[in-house]
Parts: sequence; C-alpha cells; structure tokens
Amino acid sequence: MAGSKDQDVIELLLEQHEQIRTLIAQVQSATGDRKRERFEDLVRLLAVHETAEEEIVHPTARREIPDGERVVESRLNEESQAKDELAELYDLGVGHPDFDTKFAALADAVAKHASHEESEEFPGLRREISAEDLRKMAGAVRAAEATAPTRPHPSAGESAVVNLLAGPPVAVFDRVRDAVRDWSRSDKSS
Ligand SMILES: [Fe+2]
Ligand SMILES: [Fe+2]
Repeated sequence: MAGSKDQDVIELLLEQHEQIRTLIAQVQSATGDRKRERFEDLVRLLAVHETAEEEIVHPTARREIPDGERVVESRLNEESQAKDELAELYDLGVGHPDFDTKFAALADAVAKHASHEESEEFPGLRREISAEDLRKMAGAVRAAEATAPTRPHPSAGESAVVNLLAGPPVAVFDRVRDAVRDWSRSDKSS
C-alpha cells in the first residue's frame, strides 16, 4: 500500500514522481475551479517532494555518490528554476491566456528533472547507502507530507488541512521546509 512504513526514501520518491506526472496531466486536461485545485495540489506535492530531496536526499547524494557534487548542483538548479516558474504560474492564475503555454514548459522541465534523478542520482544512492538508512530517510518525506497532504482527496477543497496550505508556492515551500527541518533535528537528537 502507498506510504507503507517499510518503504524506503527512494521508493517513496519514485511513487511521488508518478503522482507528479498524473497531477500534471490533470492540470492540463481540467478547466475552471478544478484546474485551479489540481494546480494547487501540484504545488503542494512538489513542495513536499522537492523539499525532502533538498534537505535530506541531495546532501547525502552529494557526499556519497560518484560525481555527487556535479549531479546534485544540476538537480538543485533545476529545482530552483521550477520553483520560480511555479510562483510565476500561481501569480498568472489558471485562467490567464498564457497559463497553458507556460505550464507546458514547466511540465516538460519537471519531467526531465525527475528522469535525471532516476537515472543519475537514485541508482547511486541505492548502491552506496544502507537499506536501513534509506528507510530512515523516508521519515523526511513523511514529515513533509504531514504538513501538506499529497494523496488525492475525494472532495478537493473541503479539507481544512488542505486549505491551510493553499497559497503562494513560496509560502507553501517554506512551511514544508520548516517541517522537514524539525524532523531532521528531532531525528538527530533521538
Ligand atoms: Fe527533485
Ligand atoms: Fe524527485
């Protein structure tokens, strides 16, 4: 089942890559309020996903995998660019005439970013990091998800928890980052 305690961080991240691809397709096929809701879901999911990677996964990869410095720098640049584009899209709004074209560019960049991680970063982590440590690192993803639920919800917009995190991407990313840092501190002190 999704989110099982036994999943390690790479399994969780791969599952989220699939969810990201699905949500992107949903934004592209929806209209009106539904499109806005799916776009906000995507902002939350990317906040959870990229923040857990930036705080926990990339720093480990930088230290441990072959050519880690170069691989991680490229991934961080891609993530930073995607964040800027998300903020721009949010400000435009889903109803703006330029939204679909700009969103298509973001979708393409995010898909390439995910496949770079899958080919250049995750295999190295699997080789270099113990199964137990990879399972521990999954805690970062769960801490982030606790702040910003990313599972598809049946009646979008009706959950108070979900609504709390509907807002500008910069604010959503900041909230999730705080949660992952809290997790990281409590993990190290225990
Ligand atoms: Fe990423
Ligand atoms: Fe990723």
